[in-house]
Amino acid sequence: MNVNDVSFERKRPDVYGDAHPKALLRTIQEDGDFLVKLANQHIVSGDQFDQDTMKQLFRLAAKIESNPKRFSSPLQNKILISAFYEPSTRTRLSFESAWHRLGGDIMSITDRSTTGIAKGECLADVAEMFNNYGDCVVLRDSNESSLFEMMDALRIPIINAGNGVDEHPTQALADMYAIFKWRPTLVNAEDQDKVKIGVIGVPDKMRTVRSFLKCLSIFAHAVDELVIIHDEKCSDELFGEGQREELESRGITIRTETELDSVLPELDVVYINAISWEGDTFNTYGSAFHLTAGSPLKEDAIILHPLARGEELSTDLDHTSHNWYFSQARGAVFLRMALLTCMVERAERVIDVV
Ligand code: CP
Repeated sequence: MNVNDVSFERKRPDVYGDAHPKALLRTIQEDGDFLVKLANQHIVSGDQFDQDTMKQLFRLAAKIESNPKRFSSPLQNKILISAFYEPSTRTRLSFESAWHRLGGDIMSITDRSTTGIAKGECLADVAEMFNNYGDCVVLRDSNESSLFEMMDALRIPIINAGNGVDEHPTQALADMYAIFKWRPTLVNAEDQDKVKIGVIGVPDKMRTVRSFLKCLSIFAHAVDELVIIHDEKCSDELFGEGQREELESRGITIRTETELDSVLPELDVVYINAISWEGDTFNTYGSAFHLTAGSPLKEDAIILHPLARGEELSTDLDHTSHNWYFSQARGAVFLRMALLTCMVERAERVIDVV
């Protein structure tokens, strides 16, 4: 690249997904009791939250996002152990950013081979050491069961930041937070407010989708219909055992489709994710599907994507009003600030802040 081709002018932020968090804040009545109950809880699955707790988390996240400078010290003298044994841009950095912004300190492990695990140390012993060194653990591991092996020995709370293809619950909370900021009326939706949500992917194979659908089903009253758009060849492996039945029993109506462009004009929210982590590598699904600025989206439809982006999501959408995926990633910091504060028994330091 020729240096003369590079612009040194600072880029101005684009306008995307910028609904103000205050609208969501005003929609939810504060009830700090639900936040206090999160103290010392492990965060493992999108299934573990009830509607009231999620609403209070979103309210606190919106309060922090509205005025982040007022929340610079709740985690003073607390230490986060950030253990990521699989690549991550957003999850690790947004957790660490959240902890730093709250005034806490961090120890980070990005390669398990630098720990005793490389010498055969068992995860229970590692967890026992974590009890002595920190106040909270965030773990990403390609192995689904590592989380559970550590939980048995932990006396400090742990957050599942992605365990194999199983779950990624705080991603799902960030997804729901983005949806509610986009349309705060969905929190207490009546029939006329409900939205149609399309998910491009294979729910059984994608941890982000698995957790998202669990969290979404807790707000089934806001969902007119869930449309799963998938490759014809994945028809027999879309849902895991009992996964579809569980969602339907919570009140979600499910339809499956294989033609993206014919269903797009119906959808209010389009959730796309084309990769699934499997072991130390990933598989791509739905490579036939591409969203571009020319796709027949509803004028006010939003696109969510947990990222990293693949060829399924064209960069020409970045400068359109459909782009809520950057807002989704940005909001994850505030959502994680809210959750972390509650988990380490500091909720009372933020509940009364206005
Ligand atoms: N959304 C998400 O999990 O992204 P990373 O893999 O970059 O953490």
